[in-house]
Amino acid sequence: MTPLARTLTGLASGWAAGHVLGLAARLQAGHGSTAKKLHSRRSFTRNAALGATMIITAEIAIGTVWLLWPNKTGAFGGDITVAGINVPEIDGAPFRFPEGKFYLVHTDDGIQALYWKCVHLGCTVPWIAGSSRFICPCHGSIYEYNGSRISGPAPRAMDGMPVTVNDNGSITVNTNPATLIMRNTYTPADATPYTA
Ligand code: FES
Repeated sequence: MTPLARTLTGLASGWAAGHVLGLAARLQAGHGSTAKKLHSRRSFTRNAALGATMIITAEIAIGTVWLLWPNKTGAFGGDITVAGINVPEIDGAPFRFPEGKFYLVHTDDGIQALYWKCVHLGCTVPWIAGSSRFICPCHGSIYEYNGSRISGPAPRAMDGMPVTVNDNGSITVNTNPATLIMRNTYTPADATPYTA
């Protein structure tokens, strides 16, 4: 069931629960003395309303968390595994992975996954093969192969994404924006050693 469907189901079940409890209150209020009936009816109506509100609130909260939780795999926001065959040779052309919004680059120090969003104002930064640079089309920020800023209004190097090298030579990139590696400039420690 999709998160939206879960939320709608929660709303419907909360509405139904409220009506069932309200009906129970009316039925119970049909017995006993007038004063007792009045008290009982008020009490049940209050409890029914409270119960329905709690159910609706809980379902909406669960649906919202489900929608926003970045635990997808194979898509931006989650872990993405790239086959070893796609890891560039040292100083080879960056491997562009649109689903994860990153480039894989490979230097003597190891591999990096560079988030392709410009750290100036967020434009997508292409690799310009003829210049061997990442050049932002919006305001002209230029970055080296390793992500370091060369010039332009960008305040720092391109952001990196955490990389794990797997036993079979593939790599897993954590594309959760909350875990981005922000740095002023590239240092060798930013790269993950890689041997196929
Ligand atoms: S958004 Fe890239 S230089 Fe402004």
